[in-house]
Amino acid sequence: MNDSPSSTSDFSDSILSFEDSADRVPTLWLHGFPLNSTMWDLQVSGLCDVARLIVPDLRGHGLTEPTPPPYTMEMLATDCVRLLDHVGCTGPVVVAGLSMGGYLAFEICRRFPERVAGLILTATKATADTAEIRAVREKSAQTALTDGVAPIVEGLLPKLLAPGAYDTEPELVEFLKEMMLGTSPEGLAGAQAAMLARPDSTPDLPGLKVPTLIIHGDEDQLIPVAEAEAMAAGMPEADLVIIPGAGHMPNLEEPAGFNEVVREFLEGFY
Ligand code: MLT
Repeated sequence: MNDSPSSTSDFSDSILSFEDSADRVPTLWLHGFPLNSTMWDLQVSGLCDVARLIVPDLRGHGLTEPTPPPYTMEMLATDCVRLLDHVGCTGPVVVAGLSMGGYLAFEICRRFPERVAGLILTATKATADTAEIRAVREKSAQTALTDGVAPIVEGLLPKLLAPGAYDTEPELVEFLKEMMLGTSPEGLAGAQAAMLARPDSTPDLPGLKVPTLIIHGDEDQLIPVAEAEAMAAGMPEADLVIIPGAGHMPNLEEPAGFNEVVREFLEGFY
């Protein structure tokens, strides 16, 4: 938090100095698949002076217990809005999502547009899955339920970062691996079901008139930069920032550059 107090409170016989991030821009941070809220740790520490960060673990991920799969995007979006209500954030917030978190952000926009003040869409896309990808997701969900999450983690880990990072960033690789291995089989299968059934959000783009920041790594091995460019072209209020040298996790691979553009964006809400 800030070194300097944000407020003082004048009681009858003392004035308390205190920090309360409730006066900052409220933001909701949605993690990718099959990750959890700790993927945003560097944003929580780096942006807490400008934003109130609400950072959930989705069902079956991180510290949130699984419910039996399948899940739907509607279910996950409703979980998030209930959480916002629970913490007293009943007005619009900036919704930030990475990859699967971006798919979920689109669902929140569809179902709860009054809760969205702005969007930060990182390493994500508006398009739906092809039939081929849907089949891969079905198989992956089955594998997780029968053999556990390790085989899925093994396949996905080499694609999460920019190719060179696997030699130069062993701690980051280990951090992501442990995070993914901590996901429950039910959570992983449930999330795959939600993603494969998600609709194409491309037709929604022109109607999303809130300020939007799109961030993409130019070495993303999972979602090509062209998807980010297409979203930016389709949205009336979107700015696109490409982060050189970053893969699918630009917030972790280039945290300083990522936080700088996000900070500038969030300052526009004051
Ligand atoms: C993610 O990072 O959330 C996933 O790569 C999304 C996906 O599987 O489409």
